This record gives sequence, structure tokens and C-alpha cells, in this order.
Amino acid sequence: MQNESLSVRHLISIRDLSTADIELIFRTADQFKEVINRPIKKVPSLRDITVANLFFENSTRTKLSFELAEKRLSADIVNFSASGSSVSKGETLIDTVNNILAMKVDMVVMRHSSPGAPVFLSRHCPAVIINAGDGAHEHPTQALLDAYSMKEKHGELKGLKVAIIGDILHSRVAMSNLICLQKLGAEVMLCGPKTLIQRPLLQQPGLLISHNTEEALRWCDVAMVLRIQLERQNTRLFPSQREYARVFGLNRALLDKVGKPITIMHPGPINRGVEITSDVADGPGNIILDQVENGVAVRMAVLYLLAGQIRIPDSA
Ligand code: CP
Repeated sequence: MQNESLSVRHLISIRDLSTADIELIFRTADQFKEVINRPIKKVPSLRDITVANLFFENSTRTKLSFELAEKRLSADIVNFSASGSSVSKGETLIDTVNNILAMKVDMVVMRHSSPGAPVFLSRHCPAVIINAGDGAHEHPTQALLDAYSMKEKHGELKGLKVAIIGDILHSRVAMSNLICLQKLGAEVMLCGPKTLIQRPLLQQPGLLISHNTEEALRWCDVAMVLRIQLERQNTRLFPSQREYARVFGLNRALLDKVGKPITIMHPGPINRGVEITSDVADGPGNIILDQVENGVAVRMAVLYLLAGQIRIPDSA
């Protein structure tokens, strides 16, 4: 592995990464992807590092992916889920985390429903912090693995046309992807009902917006489909899921009508039959499970590069 380092100590927002940082993460992920496809999938790179995975909000992919990445790097890990913990007894975030850090943890991977929770933590705790999703704010490792997967499929991100289709308003994936893809020179279009796109984005000069899925599909090389996040919606923003599926959903008939190859992506979890039908999610052009596989390699790269900044005491 190379001795290059990232320009950041934590990974809180994709905004904080330079293009050179992202390219370094991708080069490092290439090497780890080769490792995880070997018969022996483990390297000793993080043997002296302890990582705490703090999940205050539900997760399947991100939690498993980080845990696997840490194990493949030989880190010691502790896992925490808010359900079943003393959070339900009123313990504050900082008290919970300080107690975990008192157990000599070097890195924290955190998912939280409150935007800004990871940056708050980074200001109060000495450990390296990785944001695994904070409310509707950011999900930087998802954007990195998505961009890495697009690069793997299309060779080049510069000039690639990516339509992000769905519930943009509540999606940290959309925000991190928009920033990451624009940094890397891709063209981005946001598509969805007006009520599911932030007003500042609707008014952002130069940002392509569509309220018509067919128009977005005709324009794009890659369609990144997002879930409707009903759990984050306090008011009714569209008539019904059935109506949403009919007007904005991706289905085979629509793709056939557009009649060109389009790479289909989805960060998961998928609501089959709402934003995407099964024959599209599982059909030609989809790279949804490649995204999951690449997630492990990209997260190994992020952990490895950030761990390089922790001073490891001489072993006794
Ligand atoms: N893509 C993603 O963040 O999925 P999970 O919520 O299952 O982690």
C-alpha cells in the first residue's frame, strides 16, 4: 500500500474531501477489492486499531459493510445499537460516546438521525470519526462507493450524465452524491415531484432539475433511484405510493420506451413496486449488488487511510 494520506482527519462530509483525496480513496479501494476477492480475504493493516460502530439509527448495508471492512483489516471492533442501550434511559450522546471512548477506542463509525451529530462528536472526542449517515444531511461513504461503482462501469466520471430520481428532499445519499459527482466532473440531474426537492436546489443556477422521469431517463447514462422516506415525512408530500409509482417510478415499459442502455443504481433499501419495479431492479443494466460489493472495498480504503493518521504506540 502507498504512503499517501488524506487531507482530512475525519470523514464527516464529502465537501471536506478534495478531488485528490477521492482519487486516493479509489486507488486504495482498487487494491482492497483485489484483497477481498482472494481466498484469504484478510490483511493485518488495522491490527492495532479499535473501532466502535455506533448505530443510533437502523441500518443493514452500511453496518454490515463497515463491520466486514474492519474485520478484513484485522481491527478490533465493538458494536453499539441505540435500541437496547442506556440511550432509552435518557443518556446523552456525548455521555454515551465518552463512555465508549474511555474503553480506548481509536475510531468511531456513527449513524445518527440528527444532522450534525458526527461533527459534534468530532469536536468533543479525540477519536477519528466517520459519518455513516446523519439524518437527511450526508452519507459520504455511500457517495464514494456509488462514484467508484460508476467509474468501474463507465471508466470515466467526467461528463457522465447521472439522474438522481426520487425523494431528494429527505435523502442524505442524494446530497452526498450531488456534491461528490460534481467534484468529479459528472453532470447531475435531480428528478422528482416538486414537493420532494429542496427549494434552494430548485433555484440553484446550473443545476438540472426535472419533474418527469421519462425526460430524466432520455437524458442520463446512469439512473440512481432513491426510496421514498416515509419515516422522515411529517406532512403528506404526494397523494399516495401507488400514484408516485405510476407517475415517477421506474418500470420496464418506461425503459423500453426510452430504448437505450441505462445503468440502474439504488443505494437500498428498495421499496419494490414504489420507486422501482423488480424487473428493473433485478434486470439488465442494474449494478445494485456491485454497489454493495464495492462498499466493502471503499470502506476498507477509508478506514485504512484515516487510521494512518492515528499515532500507533510502539508495541511492548
Ligand atoms: N444504503 C444504506 O445506507 O443502507 P442502510 O440504511 O441499510 O445502511
